[in-house]
Amino acid sequence: MKSGSSSLKIKKHLLPLSLSETEEKIISLVARSARELNLPVFLVGGHVRDKILQRPSKDIDFVVVGSGVELAESVAAHFHPAASLAVYKNFGTALVKHEDFEVEFVGARKESYRGDSRKPIVEDGTLEDDLSRRDFTINALAVSLNDDDYGMLYDAFDGLKDIEKKIIRTPLNPDITFSDDPLRMMRAIRFASQLSFRIEPETWQSLVRNRERISIISAERITEEMNKIILSPKPSVGFDLLFKSGLLKIFFPEFEKLFGVEHVEGKGHKDNFYHTLQVLDNLSEKSDDLWLRWAAILHDIAKPDTKRFEKGRGWTFHGHEVVGARKVERIFRKLHLPLNEKMKFVQKMVMLHLRPIVLSKEEVTDSAIRRLLFDAGDDIDSLMMLCESDITSKNEKKVKRYLENFQLVRTKLKEVEASDRLRNWQPPISGELIMKTFGKPPGKEIGIIKDAIREAILEGVISNTFDDAYNFMLAKAKELGWECVNKY
Ligand code: CTP
Repeated sequence: MKSGSSSLKIKKHLLPLSLSETEEKIISLVARSARELNLPVFLVGGHVRDKILQRPSKDIDFVVVGSGVELAESVAAHFHPAASLAVYKNFGTALVKHEDFEVEFVGARKESYRGDSRKPIVEDGTLEDDLSRRDFTINALAVSLNDDDYGMLYDAFDGLKDIEKKIIRTPLNPDITFSDDPLRMMRAIRFASQLSFRIEPETWQSLVRNRERISIISAERITEEMNKIILSPKPSVGFDLLFKSGLLKIFFPEFEKLFGVEHVEGKGHKDNFYHTLQVLDNLSEKSDDLWLRWAAILHDIAKPDTKRFEKGRGWTFHGHEVVGARKVERIFRKLHLPLNEKMKFVQKMVMLHLRPIVLSKEEVTDSAIRRLLFDAGDDIDSLMMLCESDITSKNEKKVKRYLENFQLVRTKLKEVEASDRLRNWQPPISGELIMKTFGKPPGKEIGIIKDAIREAILEGVISNTFDDAYNFMLAKAKELGWECVNKY
Protein backbone atom coordinates (compact mmCIF):
# COMPACT_ATOMS: atom_id res chain seq x y z
CA MET A 1 0.00 0.00 0.00
CA LYS A 2 1.22 3.49 -0.87
CA SER A 3 1.53 6.15 1.77
CA GLY A 4 -0.76 8.42 -0.24
CA SER A 5 1.60 11.35 0.31
CA SER A 6 4.33 10.85 -2.23
CA SER A 7 3.38 13.93 -4.23
CA LEU A 8 3.91 16.19 -1.20
CA LYS A 9 7.06 18.15 -0.53
CA ILE A 10 7.82 16.40 2.70
CA LYS A 11 11.33 15.74 4.01
CA LYS A 12 12.04 12.18 5.00
CA HIS A 13 14.40 10.76 7.55
CA LEU A 14 14.88 7.24 8.74
CA LEU A 15 13.64 6.98 12.23
CA PRO A 16 15.38 4.92 14.90
CA LEU A 17 12.56 4.87 17.48
CA SER A 18 13.00 2.63 20.49
CA LEU A 19 9.62 1.14 21.33
CA SER A 20 8.38 -1.00 24.20
CA GLU A 21 6.89 -4.42 23.51
CA THR A 22 3.34 -3.08 23.95
CA GLU A 23 4.02 -0.14 21.65
CA GLU A 24 5.44 -2.51 19.01
CA LYS A 25 2.31 -4.67 19.32
CA ILE A 26 -0.08 -1.71 18.97
CA ILE A 27 1.80 -0.22 16.03
CA SER A 28 2.09 -3.47 14.11
CA LEU A 29 -1.63 -4.19 14.64
CA VAL A 30 -2.50 -0.72 13.34
CA ALA A 31 -0.25 -1.21 10.30
CA ARG A 32 -1.82 -4.61 9.59
CA SER A 33 -5.39 -3.32 9.88
CA ALA A 34 -4.56 -0.32 7.67
CA ARG A 35 -3.07 -2.62 5.03
CA GLU A 36 -6.24 -4.75 5.04
CA LEU A 37 -8.42 -1.68 4.64
CA ASN A 38 -6.04 -0.04 2.17
CA LEU A 39 -5.86 3.11 4.32
CA PRO A 40 -2.60 5.10 4.60
CA VAL A 41 -1.77 5.58 8.28
CA PHE A 42 0.87 7.53 10.21
CA LEU A 43 2.03 7.69 13.80
CA VAL A 44 1.80 11.36 14.70
CA GLY A 45 2.01 14.10 17.32
CA GLY A 46 3.14 13.90 20.92
CA HIS A 47 4.12 10.22 20.85
CA VAL A 48 6.63 10.78 18.04
CA ARG A 49 7.98 13.87 19.83
CA ASP A 50 8.30 12.06 23.16
CA LYS A 51 9.96 9.00 21.60
CA ILE A 52 12.58 11.21 19.95
CA LEU A 53 13.11 12.96 23.29
CA GLN A 54 13.14 9.55 25.05
CA ARG A 55 10.33 10.62 27.36
CA PRO A 56 7.65 8.18 28.51
CA SER A 57 4.27 8.53 26.77
CA LYS A 58 1.08 6.56 27.18
CA ASP A 59 -0.94 8.33 24.47
CA ILE A 60 -0.46 7.23 20.87
CA ASP A 61 -2.06 9.18 18.03
CA PHE A 62 -2.56 7.92 14.51
CA VAL A 63 -3.65 9.96 11.54
CA VAL A 64 -5.37 8.16 8.68
CA VAL A 65 -5.80 9.45 5.14
CA GLY A 66 -9.44 8.34 5.13
CA SER A 67 -11.69 7.25 7.97
CA GLY A 68 -10.00 7.17 11.39
CA VAL A 69 -13.12 5.57 12.88
CA GLU A 70 -13.13 2.68 10.37
CA LEU A 71 -9.49 1.89 11.14
CA ALA A 72 -10.07 2.16 14.90
CA GLU A 73 -12.98 -0.33 14.69
CA SER A 74 -10.81 -2.80 12.85
CA VAL A 75 -7.87 -2.35 15.26
CA ALA A 76 -10.07 -2.82 18.35
CA ALA A 77 -11.44 -6.07 16.88
CA HIS A 78 -7.92 -7.40 16.18
CA PHE A 79 -6.98 -7.42 19.88
CA HIS A 80 -7.65 -10.65 21.85
CA PRO A 81 -9.90 -10.07 23.66
CA ALA A 82 -11.22 -7.12 21.65
CA ALA A 83 -10.06 -3.76 23.04
CA SER A 84 -12.52 -1.14 24.29
CA LEU A 85 -13.48 1.39 21.67
CA ALA A 86 -15.10 4.82 21.95
CA VAL A 87 -16.22 6.64 18.82
CA TYR A 88 -16.67 10.42 18.81
CA LYS A 89 -18.75 10.85 15.67
CA ASN A 90 -18.94 14.65 15.90
CA PHE A 91 -15.16 14.93 15.85
CA GLY A 92 -14.52 12.01 13.50
CA THR A 93 -12.18 10.47 16.07
CA ALA A 94 -12.04 7.17 17.92
CA LEU A 95 -10.22 5.97 21.00
CA VAL A 96 -8.98 2.44 21.63
CA LYS A 97 -7.68 1.46 25.07
CA HIS A 98 -5.09 -1.25 25.43
CA GLU A 99 -3.37 -1.93 28.77
CA ASP A 100 -2.46 1.55 30.03
CA PHE A 101 -2.25 3.04 26.54
CA GLU A 102 -4.82 5.38 25.00
CA VAL A 103 -4.69 5.06 21.25
CA GLU A 104 -6.45 7.73 19.22
CA PHE A 105 -7.37 7.64 15.55
CA VAL A 106 -8.28 10.65 13.47
CA GLY A 107 -8.84 11.15 9.74
CA ALA A 108 -6.41 13.63 8.10
CA ARG A 109 -8.20 16.95 7.95
CA LYS A 110 -8.18 20.45 6.76
CA GLU A 111 -9.57 22.70 9.46
CA SER A 112 -10.70 26.27 9.55
CA TYR A 113 -12.01 28.14 12.56
CA ARG A 114 -14.45 30.93 13.29
CA GLY A 115 -13.25 33.86 15.35
CA ASP A 116 -15.56 33.29 18.31
CA SER A 117 -15.15 29.58 18.81
CA ARG A 118 -12.65 26.79 19.16
CA LYS A 119 -14.96 24.51 17.17
CA PRO A 120 -13.40 23.93 13.77
CA ILE A 121 -15.13 23.52 10.45
CA VAL A 122 -13.59 20.24 9.37
CA GLU A 123 -13.07 18.82 5.88
CA ASP A 124 -11.12 15.73 4.79
CA GLY A 125 -7.56 16.61 3.87
CA THR A 126 -4.13 15.24 3.01
CA LEU A 127 -1.40 14.37 5.48
CA GLU A 128 0.27 17.72 4.83
CA ASP A 129 -2.99 19.61 5.39
CA ASP A 130 -3.30 17.80 8.69
CA LEU A 131 0.26 18.41 9.85
CA SER A 132 0.15 22.09 8.93
CA ARG A 133 -2.93 22.62 11.15
CA ARG A 134 -1.17 21.23 14.20
CA ASP A 135 0.14 23.42 16.99
CA PHE A 136 3.93 23.24 16.89
CA THR A 137 6.57 21.90 14.53
CA ILE A 138 7.72 19.46 17.23
CA ASN A 139 4.19 18.00 17.24
CA ALA A 140 3.81 17.98 13.47
CA LEU A 141 6.03 14.96 12.81
CA ALA A 142 4.56 11.81 11.29
CA VAL A 143 6.01 8.32 10.89
CA SER A 144 4.72 6.25 7.99
CA LEU A 145 3.36 2.77 8.75
CA ASN A 146 2.77 2.07 5.09
CA ASP A 147 4.48 -0.65 3.04
CA ASP A 148 6.28 1.64 0.60
CA ASP A 149 8.10 3.71 3.21
CA TYR A 150 7.53 2.03 6.59
CA GLY A 151 9.32 3.83 9.42
CA MET A 152 10.08 7.02 7.48
CA LEU A 153 9.66 10.33 9.22
CA TYR A 154 7.58 12.98 7.50
CA ASP A 155 8.92 16.29 8.67
CA ALA A 156 7.41 19.10 6.62
CA PHE A 157 8.24 21.92 9.01
CA ASP A 158 11.71 21.06 10.33
CA GLY A 159 10.30 19.76 13.60
CA LEU A 160 13.26 17.45 14.12
CA LYS A 161 15.67 20.37 13.93
CA ASP A 162 13.48 22.29 16.38
CA ILE A 163 13.60 19.35 18.80
CA GLU A 164 17.40 19.35 18.53
CA LYS A 165 17.53 23.13 19.00
CA LYS A 166 14.89 22.99 21.74
CA ILE A 167 12.54 25.42 20.04
CA ILE A 168 8.75 25.84 20.18
CA ARG A 169 7.57 27.20 16.83
CA THR A 170 4.28 27.05 14.94
CA PRO A 171 4.22 25.39 11.51
CA LEU A 172 2.17 28.21 9.96
CA ASN A 173 1.98 31.92 10.66
CA PRO A 174 1.56 31.87 14.48
CA ASP A 175 -1.35 34.33 14.31
CA ILE A 176 -3.30 31.67 12.42
CA THR A 177 -2.22 28.78 14.67
CA PHE A 178 -3.08 30.64 17.90
CA SER A 179 -6.24 32.16 16.55
CA ASP A 180 -7.40 28.68 15.39
CA ASP A 181 -7.07 27.43 18.95
CA PRO A 182 -6.01 29.88 21.69
CA LEU A 183 -5.38 27.01 24.12
CA ARG A 184 -2.17 26.56 22.14
CA MET A 185 -0.77 29.68 23.83
CA MET A 186 -0.97 27.80 27.11
CA ARG A 187 0.45 24.70 25.44
CA ALA A 188 3.43 26.65 24.07
CA ILE A 189 4.29 27.80 27.58
CA ARG A 190 3.57 24.38 29.04
CA PHE A 191 5.96 22.67 26.59
CA ALA A 192 8.62 25.32 27.26
CA SER A 193 8.36 24.59 30.99
CA GLN A 194 8.03 20.81 30.68
CA LEU A 195 10.80 20.29 28.13
CA SER A 196 13.05 23.29 28.93
CA PHE A 197 12.53 24.59 25.38
CA ARG A 198 12.45 28.23 24.34
CA ILE A 199 9.64 29.83 22.39
CA GLU A 200 10.88 31.19 19.05
CA PRO A 201 10.59 35.05 18.95
CA GLU A 202 7.95 35.35 16.20
CA THR A 203 5.80 32.72 17.90
CA TRP A 204 6.26 34.52 21.24
CA GLN A 205 5.33 37.94 19.83
CA SER A 206 2.20 36.47 18.29
CA LEU A 207 1.33 34.78 21.58
CA VAL A 208 1.57 38.13 23.37
CA ARG A 209 -0.46 39.83 20.62
CA ASN A 210 -3.22 37.20 20.77
CA ARG A 211 -3.36 36.76 24.55
CA GLU A 212 -6.90 38.18 24.94
CA ARG A 213 -8.20 35.28 22.82
CA ILE A 214 -7.60 32.98 25.80
CA SER A 215 -10.95 34.21 27.11
CA ILE A 216 -12.81 31.84 24.74
CA ILE A 217 -11.16 28.84 26.41
CA SER A 218 -12.87 27.13 29.35
CA ALA A 219 -11.34 27.36 32.84
CA GLU A 220 -10.98 23.54 32.97
CA ARG A 221 -8.76 23.41 29.91
CA ILE A 222 -6.63 26.35 31.03
CA THR A 223 -6.20 24.77 34.46
CA GLU A 224 -5.31 21.41 32.91
CA GLU A 225 -2.38 23.11 31.16
CA MET A 226 -1.50 25.15 34.25
CA ASN A 227 -1.34 21.93 36.30
CA LYS A 228 1.10 20.50 33.76
CA ILE A 229 3.22 23.65 34.18
CA ILE A 230 3.05 23.21 37.96
CA LEU A 231 4.19 19.60 37.60
CA SER A 232 7.10 20.50 35.32
CA PRO A 233 10.64 20.16 36.72
CA LYS A 234 11.08 23.93 37.24
CA PRO A 235 7.60 25.48 37.25
CA SER A 236 8.92 29.05 37.56
CA VAL A 237 9.92 28.83 33.87
CA GLY A 238 6.28 28.45 32.85
CA PHE A 239 4.88 30.96 35.34
CA ASP A 240 7.44 33.59 34.37
CA LEU A 241 6.32 33.19 30.74
CA LEU A 242 2.65 33.29 31.74
CA PHE A 243 3.39 36.51 33.62
CA LYS A 244 5.46 38.14 30.86
CA SER A 245 2.94 37.23 28.16
CA GLY A 246 0.11 38.89 30.11
CA LEU A 247 -1.88 35.62 30.15
CA LEU A 248 -1.59 35.15 33.91
CA LYS A 249 -3.33 38.46 34.60
CA ILE A 250 -6.29 37.31 32.50
CA PHE A 251 -7.04 33.96 34.15
CA PHE A 252 -5.28 34.17 37.53
CA PRO A 253 -5.05 37.86 38.52
CA GLU A 254 -4.74 37.01 42.24
CA PHE A 255 -1.33 35.49 41.54
CA GLU A 256 -0.19 38.30 39.25
CA LYS A 257 -1.04 40.79 42.00
CA LEU A 258 1.88 39.46 44.05
CA PHE A 259 4.25 41.10 41.58
CA GLY A 260 6.01 44.35 42.48
CA VAL A 261 7.83 46.07 45.29
CA GLU A 262 6.50 49.12 47.13
CA HIS A 263 8.82 51.56 48.87
CA VAL A 264 8.00 53.81 51.84
CA GLU A 265 10.63 55.86 53.64
CA GLY A 266 13.26 54.11 51.54
CA LYS A 267 12.13 50.66 52.70
CA GLY A 268 10.88 48.08 50.24
CA HIS A 269 9.40 44.62 50.82
CA LYS A 270 10.36 41.61 48.73
CA ASP A 271 8.65 40.89 45.43
CA ASN A 272 6.15 38.28 46.48
CA PHE A 273 5.58 36.95 42.97
CA TYR A 274 9.20 35.98 42.37
CA HIS A 275 9.56 34.89 46.00
CA THR A 276 6.59 32.52 45.51
CA LEU A 277 8.12 31.14 42.31
CA GLN A 278 11.35 30.49 44.17
CA VAL A 279 9.41 28.67 46.92
CA LEU A 280 7.63 26.63 44.24
CA ASP A 281 10.92 25.67 42.57
CA ASN A 282 12.52 24.80 45.92
CA LEU A 283 9.56 22.62 46.81
CA SER A 284 9.50 21.00 43.36
CA GLU A 285 13.01 19.68 44.00
CA LYS A 286 11.63 17.78 47.01
CA SER A 287 8.08 16.81 46.06
CA ASP A 288 6.02 16.17 42.94
CA ASP A 289 2.71 16.35 44.81
CA LEU A 290 0.49 18.68 42.74
CA TRP A 291 -1.46 19.88 45.78
CA LEU A 292 1.58 20.67 47.88
CA ARG A 293 2.87 22.62 44.88
CA TRP A 294 -0.48 24.46 44.81
CA ALA A 295 0.01 25.26 48.49
CA ALA A 296 3.37 26.82 47.60
CA ILE A 297 1.68 28.95 44.94
CA LEU A 298 -1.00 30.11 47.36
CA HIS A 299 0.94 30.38 50.63
CA ASP A 300 1.39 34.17 50.38
CA ILE A 301 -1.63 34.88 48.17
CA ALA A 302 -3.14 37.33 50.71
CA LYS A 303 0.00 39.41 51.16
CA PRO A 304 -1.34 42.21 48.91
CA ASP A 305 -4.58 42.27 50.98
CA THR A 306 -2.83 42.48 54.35
CA LYS A 307 0.15 44.68 53.49
CA ARG A 308 0.78 47.65 55.83
CA PHE A 309 3.68 49.96 56.40
CA GLU A 310 4.12 50.49 60.14
CA LYS A 311 6.33 53.35 61.26
CA GLY A 312 9.43 52.05 63.00
CA ARG A 313 8.67 48.41 62.02
CA GLY A 314 8.55 48.49 58.25
CA TRP A 315 6.32 46.26 56.09
CA THR A 316 4.00 43.77 57.77
CA PHE A 317 1.51 41.24 56.42
CA HIS A 318 -0.35 40.36 59.62
CA GLY A 319 -2.86 37.56 59.27
CA HIS A 320 -2.02 36.83 55.62
CA GLU A 321 -2.10 33.10 56.39
CA VAL A 322 -5.68 33.32 57.70
CA VAL A 323 -6.96 35.56 54.89
CA GLY A 324 -5.02 33.42 52.40
CA ALA A 325 -6.58 30.17 53.62
CA ARG A 326 -9.99 31.81 53.21
CA LYS A 327 -9.20 32.82 49.62
CA VAL A 328 -8.28 29.29 48.57
CA GLU A 329 -11.87 28.14 47.99
CA ARG A 330 -12.75 31.13 45.79
CA ILE A 331 -9.65 30.56 43.67
CA PHE A 332 -10.25 26.80 43.42
CA ARG A 333 -13.85 27.43 42.38
CA LYS A 334 -12.87 29.95 39.71
CA LEU A 335 -10.14 27.76 38.28
CA HIS A 336 -12.36 24.66 38.37
CA LEU A 337 -10.00 22.86 40.71
CA PRO A 338 -11.61 20.16 42.90
CA LEU A 339 -13.52 21.41 45.93
CA ASN A 340 -12.70 18.32 47.98
CA GLU A 341 -10.11 17.10 50.47
CA LYS A 342 -7.34 18.30 48.11
CA MET A 343 -8.60 21.84 48.56
CA LYS A 344 -8.85 21.34 52.32
CA PHE A 345 -5.23 20.18 52.35
CA VAL A 346 -4.14 23.34 50.50
CA GLN A 347 -6.16 25.50 52.92
CA LYS A 348 -4.52 23.80 55.86
CA MET A 349 -1.01 24.27 54.45
CA VAL A 350 -1.67 27.98 53.76
CA MET A 351 -3.13 28.44 57.24
CA LEU A 352 -0.22 26.73 59.00
CA HIS A 353 2.69 27.82 56.81
CA LEU A 354 4.11 30.28 59.34
CA ARG A 355 3.95 28.00 62.35
CA PRO A 356 7.22 26.07 61.96
CA ILE A 357 9.02 29.28 60.96
CA VAL A 358 7.81 31.12 64.03
CA LEU A 359 8.83 28.10 66.08
CA SER A 360 12.28 27.97 64.58
CA LYS A 361 12.83 31.63 65.42
CA GLU A 362 11.78 31.24 69.04
CA GLU A 363 12.72 28.82 71.72
CA VAL A 364 11.32 25.44 70.67
CA THR A 365 9.08 24.42 73.57
CA ASP A 366 7.47 21.00 73.83
CA SER A 367 4.01 22.50 74.12
CA ALA A 368 4.43 24.48 70.86
CA ILE A 369 5.61 21.28 69.16
CA ARG A 370 2.61 19.39 70.56
CA ARG A 371 0.24 22.06 69.21
CA LEU A 372 1.87 21.94 65.78
CA LEU A 373 1.56 18.15 65.63
CA PHE A 374 -2.02 18.36 66.84
CA ASP A 375 -2.99 20.90 64.13
CA ALA A 376 -1.03 19.42 61.23
CA GLY A 377 -1.73 15.72 61.90
CA ASP A 378 -0.49 13.46 59.10
CA ASP A 379 0.35 16.48 56.96
CA ILE A 380 3.20 17.55 59.22
CA ASP A 381 5.91 16.31 56.82
CA SER A 382 4.37 18.20 53.89
CA LEU A 383 4.14 21.31 56.05
CA MET A 384 7.78 21.07 57.05
CA MET A 385 8.78 20.66 53.40
CA LEU A 386 6.77 23.74 52.44
CA CYS A 387 8.31 25.78 55.23
CA GLU A 388 11.85 24.80 54.38
CA SER A 389 11.14 25.77 50.78
CA ASP A 390 9.90 29.15 52.02
CA ILE A 391 13.41 30.16 53.05
CA THR A 392 14.56 32.22 50.08
CA SER A 393 16.83 34.72 51.81
CA LYS A 394 20.04 35.60 49.95
CA ASN A 395 21.82 35.93 53.30
CA GLU A 396 23.64 32.63 53.67
CA LYS A 397 24.12 32.96 57.41
CA LYS A 398 20.42 33.53 57.92
CA VAL A 399 19.51 30.54 55.73
CA LYS A 400 21.95 28.33 57.62
CA ARG A 401 20.50 29.43 60.97
CA TYR A 402 16.89 28.82 59.85
CA LEU A 403 17.73 25.40 58.45
CA GLU A 404 19.53 24.39 61.64
CA ASN A 405 16.54 25.50 63.69
CA PHE A 406 14.24 23.56 61.40
CA GLN A 407 16.36 20.51 62.01
CA LEU A 408 15.86 21.08 65.73
CA VAL A 409 12.09 21.39 65.17
CA ARG A 410 12.12 18.11 63.20
CA THR A 411 14.06 16.32 65.95
CA LYS A 412 11.69 17.63 68.61
CA LEU A 413 8.70 16.64 66.49
CA LYS A 414 10.00 13.07 66.41
CA GLU A 415 10.60 13.01 70.18
CA VAL A 416 7.20 14.44 71.07
CA GLU A 417 5.45 12.17 68.57
CA ALA A 418 7.17 9.12 70.02
CA SER A 419 6.16 9.96 73.59
CA ASP A 420 2.77 11.66 73.12
CA ARG A 421 1.37 10.20 69.85
CA LEU A 422 -0.41 13.43 68.94
CA ARG A 423 -0.63 12.93 65.19
CA ASN A 424 -4.33 12.65 64.32
CA TRP A 425 -5.12 12.90 67.99
CA GLN A 426 -8.27 11.35 69.40
CA PRO A 427 -9.41 12.54 72.86
CA PRO A 428 -8.58 9.82 75.45
CA ILE A 429 -11.87 10.59 77.26
CA SER A 430 -15.03 10.72 75.19
CA GLY A 431 -17.99 13.06 75.74
CA GLU A 432 -20.15 10.02 76.48
CA LEU A 433 -17.89 8.92 79.31
CA ILE A 434 -17.99 12.42 80.85
CA MET A 435 -21.82 12.42 80.69
CA LYS A 436 -22.07 8.93 82.11
CA THR A 437 -19.58 9.60 84.95
CA PHE A 438 -21.41 12.70 86.18
CA GLY A 439 -24.95 11.86 85.05
CA LYS A 440 -25.11 14.97 82.88
CA PRO A 441 -27.05 15.55 79.65
CA PRO A 442 -25.21 16.73 76.51
CA GLY A 443 -24.38 20.43 76.69
CA LYS A 444 -21.79 23.17 76.81
CA GLU A 445 -20.33 21.99 80.11
CA ILE A 446 -19.23 18.66 78.62
CA GLY A 447 -17.32 20.58 75.96
CA ILE A 448 -15.60 22.66 78.67
CA ILE A 449 -14.23 19.53 80.33
CA LYS A 450 -13.15 18.04 77.00
CA ASP A 451 -11.32 21.26 76.04
CA ALA A 452 -9.64 21.42 79.44
CA ILE A 453 -8.33 17.85 79.00
CA ARG A 454 -7.00 18.65 75.52
CA GLU A 455 -5.30 21.85 76.74
CA ALA A 456 -3.71 20.02 79.68
CA ILE A 457 -2.27 17.41 77.30
CA LEU A 458 -0.98 19.99 74.83
CA GLU A 459 0.57 22.06 77.62
CA GLY A 460 2.24 18.96 79.01
CA VAL A 461 0.41 19.19 82.39
CA ILE A 462 -0.73 15.58 81.95
CA SER A 463 0.34 12.83 79.57
CA ASN A 464 -1.76 11.71 76.63
CA THR A 465 -3.12 8.62 78.43
CA PHE A 466 -6.52 7.47 79.58
CA ASP A 467 -5.54 7.28 83.27
CA ASP A 468 -4.08 10.80 83.43
CA ALA A 469 -6.98 12.25 81.49
CA TYR A 470 -9.52 10.42 83.70
CA ASN A 471 -7.97 11.74 86.93
CA PHE A 472 -7.73 15.21 85.44
CA MET A 473 -11.41 15.04 84.52
CA LEU A 474 -12.37 14.07 88.10
CA ALA A 475 -10.35 16.99 89.52
CA LYS A 476 -11.81 19.46 87.01
CA ALA A 477 -15.37 18.26 87.76
CA LYS A 478 -14.76 18.65 91.45
CA GLU A 479 -13.84 22.32 90.87
CA LEU A 480 -17.21 22.70 89.15
CA GLY A 481 -18.94 21.04 92.08
CA TRP A 482 -20.09 18.01 90.07
CA GLU A 483 -20.75 14.73 91.71
CA CYS A 484 -19.38 11.49 90.35
CA VAL A 485 -22.31 9.06 89.93
CA ASN A 486 -20.62 6.30 87.91
CA LYS A 487 -17.05 5.39 88.64
CA TYR A 488 -15.08 3.77 85.77
N1 CTP B 1 -2.79 19.31 18.91
C1 CTP B 1 -2.90 20.56 18.33
N2 CTP B 1 -3.52 21.57 19.00
C2 CTP B 1 -4.01 21.37 20.25
C3 CTP B 1 -3.91 20.12 20.86
C4 CTP B 1 -3.27 19.10 20.16
O1 CTP B 1 -2.45 20.75 17.21
N3 CTP B 1 -4.62 22.36 20.88
C5 CTP B 1 -2.14 18.21 18.15
C6 CTP B 1 -0.62 18.15 18.31
O2 CTP B 1 -0.09 17.65 17.11
C7 CTP B 1 -0.44 17.15 19.43
C8 CTP B 1 -1.54 16.15 19.13
O3 CTP B 1 -2.60 16.95 18.63
O4 CTP B 1 0.84 16.57 19.43
C9 CTP B 1 -1.99 15.34 20.34
O5 CTP B 1 -2.49 16.22 21.33
P1 CTP B 1 -2.38 15.95 22.89
O6 CTP B 1 -2.46 14.49 23.14
O7 CTP B 1 -3.34 16.86 23.55
O8 CTP B 1 -0.96 16.52 23.26
P2 CTP B 1 0.47 15.93 23.15
O9 CTP B 1 1.23 16.76 22.17
O10 CTP B 1 0.41 14.48 22.88
O11 CTP B 1 1.12 16.23 24.54
P3 CTP B 1 0.69 15.70 26.00
O12 CTP B 1 0.39 14.26 25.87
O13 CTP B 1 1.89 16.01 26.80
O14 CTP B 1 -0.50 16.53 26.37
